[in-house]
Amino acid sequence: MGDRLEGKVIPEHIAMILDGNGRWAKKRGLPRVMGHKAGCEAVERIVRVCADLGVKYLTVYGFSTENWKRSSEEVGALMDLFRVYLKKLLKVAREENCRCLMIGDKTRFAPDIIAGIDELTEETRQNSGMTFIIAINYGGRDELRRAVEKIVNETKRRDSDSFSAVTEQMISNSLDTAGIPDPDLLIRTSGELRVSNFLLWQIAYSEIYVTETLWPDFDKKALEDAVLSYNTRDRRFGGRKV
Ligand code: IPE
Ligand code: IPE
Ligand code: MG
Repeated sequence: MGDRLEGKVIPEHIAMILDGNGRWAKKRGLPRVMGHKAGCEAVERIVRVCADLGVKYLTVYGFSTENWKRSSEEVGALMDLFRVYLKKLLKVAREENCRCLMIGDKTRFAPDIIAGIDELTEETRQNSGMTFIIAINYGGRDELRRAVEKIVNETKRRDSDSFSAVTEQMISNSLDTAGIPDPDLLIRTSGELRVSNFLLWQIAYSEIYVTETLWPDFDKKALEDAVLSYNTRDRRFGGRKV
């Protein structure tokens, strides 16, 4: 563990909204896709940093259900980057002993991308280190919609007399993140003060940290700054302060 975090609490689950790739490229007079490429490299880097720090769960928001609205040129370039980086991430996951999961609706992707996601999750299933969760074609509202659909279908399938109430646990168990603890720390890069449809149910009590740093520049020091800020928080979960 780095000296700056000596004796500090490491959040069990860190979730990140990777934002600012486009602005990073624009600042350098480069096409947006170059920002996305640098952003993918930053993902590789941060997986290693988090695994080394002993983070148990890392969730990164890479592509939202709303990002399809971008130009076909940009969406196409992002799909090509997924193709390359799913393979690179498999190598990183093996080296770091990470288990990879995907959240979101993968059915909208091309068959070879779906195959790449399946390979990454299958090949890393037995890994015992950090769980690395990639949110692609993910939207918090879409996830809740799909969860409600599952609950309704399950209720229809079962004897409806046995149905009494929808519990919070039933909803949590029907989300893509079933079995994963809620994020302790939510980081957003590039300074935007919004959640942009990310983990709407799960971040109910997450501590939020926003940095001006653009995602491709996010590094070990930037992560340490976020964790140091987390250590100053007083998490009360609605309870009375003692
Ligand atoms: C984040 O970077 C990556 C994706 C949403 C795919 P952006 O592409 O949103 O970068 P900015 O916000 O335009 O700088
Ligand atoms: C959020 O970033 C989505 C991802 C990082 C994948 P956006 O750039 O899409 O969010 P808005 O449009 O600024 O809210
Ligand atoms: Mg953005």
